[in-house]
Amino acid sequence: MAKILVTGGAGYIGSHTTRFLLNRGHEVLVVDDLSKGYAHNVPEGRLHKLNLLDGEALDAVLAGARFDAVVHFAAFIAVGESVREPEIYFQNNVAGTLSLLAAMRRHGVRKFVFSSTAAVYGNPESTPIPETAPHRPVNPYGESKLMVERILRWLDECSGFRYVALRYFNACGAAAEYGIGEEHEPETHLIPLILRAIRTGSPVTVFGNDYPTPDGTCIRDYIHVLDLASAHAAALDHLLAGGASDSFNAGTGIGYSVLEVIKAAEAATGRQVPFQIGRRREGDPAELVADSSKLMKTLGWEPKITSLQEMVASAWQFEKLRHASA
Ligand SMILES: NC(=O)c1ccc[n+]([C@@H]2O[C@H](COP(=O)([O-])OP(=O)(O)OC[C@H]3O[C@@H](n4cnc5c(N)ncnc54)[C@H](O)[C@@H]3O)[C@@H](O)[C@H]2O)c1
Repeated sequence: MAKILVTGGAGYIGSHTTRFLLNRGHEVLVVDDLSKGYAHNVPEGRLHKLNLLDGEALDAVLAGARFDAVVHFAAFIAVGESVREPEIYFQNNVAGTLSLLAAMRRHGVRKFVFSSTAAVYGNPESTPIPETAPHRPVNPYGESKLMVERILRWLDECSGFRYVALRYFNACGAAAEYGIGEEHEPETHLIPLILRAIRTGSPVTVFGNDYPTPDGTCIRDYIHVLDLASAHAAALDHLLAGGASDSFNAGTGIGYSVLEVIKAAEAATGRQVPFQIGRRREGDPAELVADSSKLMKTLGWEPKITSLQEMVASAWQFEKLRHASA
């Protein structure tokens, strides 16, 4: 079993992946500055609170620890904020990653799994989207992730560094049995916003119902956070076995419209979703669905949870746990 450093492990996807890797018998330590994450998401005794831009603090964690690999989740993730304040996205997501990569080099750690995103594709010409589709991000967040992927390609080419970049589509769901789930603040993701609307009675806004899709609302590919965790475990297995660097889409390949997500939430919770139709959000493509066949074929990965209702039900379990009065 391997010794893994998880950055951003106090956040949503990082905390689920940390649990998943621990359950597989790996030794896992987390670094996170808690700017967006929560100490209660990390199992006791595994959290080092630090900012990735602090090279000395990273040295203190890496020195003598002999990590086999790093799984790198730590980043800022809010697309709208990245448009308003691009500098902080390049500083945190690109400079923060460079600081981590330099520290890894100082301590001889050469295997890396990176959280990339469907946002590297921008507005794709067609879906499902293969990895070879043009990379044309339409916001600084997506650009920051693409810049890191480009840096990783050069590190692979110029040194013995090996990486897997996973381009996630829409992560959702929770592992309420561990008391963890999605707790972004502010929340911008559809499923937690729908569940909040159910809980509070205050309507969620559907951004546009005049898209060229069957019901007029945007279509996205939702992937359960534990299936994403298992994709990271598969990526680590690949790298630890000496596998080559590569980038993969991570989605289920099934697209659901916003109205279908609302229906699934009603079925999963037995409650009505109060919603209102608003105007389109700028830069929202009509449809984003992954072609994840490369991840399935190359890494032997398969999503276990493909029912949207099941995904929403797990998120609802967590929502109820968080707000015991729901
Ligand atoms: N949530 C999604 O649907 C989604 C989709 C595509 C890609 N991603 C990527 O997955 C990763 C994890 O996303 P998430 O939803 O779990 O986000 P999150 O905000 O819940 O977790 C990110 C964590 O990183 C920490 N962090 C941020 N900057 C840091 C820094 N400089 N030093 C130390 N810690 C820092 C935060 O405190 C937080 O705990 C991100 O890289 C994101 O870009 C997420």
